[in-house]
Amino acid sequence: MTLRDAAAAVRENAYAPYSGFKVGAALRTPGGQVFTGCNVENVAYPEGTCAEAGAIAAMIAAGETLIAEAYVIADSPEPVPPCGGCRQKLAEFAGLDVVVTLANLVGVEKVMTLGQLLPGAFGKGHMDPA
Ligand code: THU
Repeated sequence: MTLRDAAAAVRENAYAPYSGFKVGAALRTPGGQVFTGCNVENVAYPEGTCAEAGAIAAMIAAGETLIAEAYVIADSPEPVPPCGGCRQKLAEFAGLDVVVTLANLVGVEKVMTLGQLLPGAFGKGHMDPA
């Protein structure tokens, strides 16, 4: 199964009764394992979680900690961009050269690197004393 198929399939299970906006995410590890996630909203709106966060949680729960490639899909006029927080979450487990494909349901894709999505990323080196 391609990352696109995996992301599109899990998107169907998204729980998005408040926004009506279903998102699917799929991650591939360097070893070829694929993990997926969808957004899970909550009546207390800030408690909702993004698709990317769900996919990362599934990867970590399986004992994997490296992302080799990511794919995000939603029913959007333009390929759906990950939110700012999810860019930082991806950067915890993916190098800035990792390809993140943004997609919509009608087949438009935008292929970007994580570095393009998160220029000036905060990393652990920034916590070193000057
Ligand atoms: N959403 C994601 O799942 N990932 C993103 O990167 C962008 C936003 C979800 C959160 C919320 O459930 C819905 O899309 C509308 O913001």
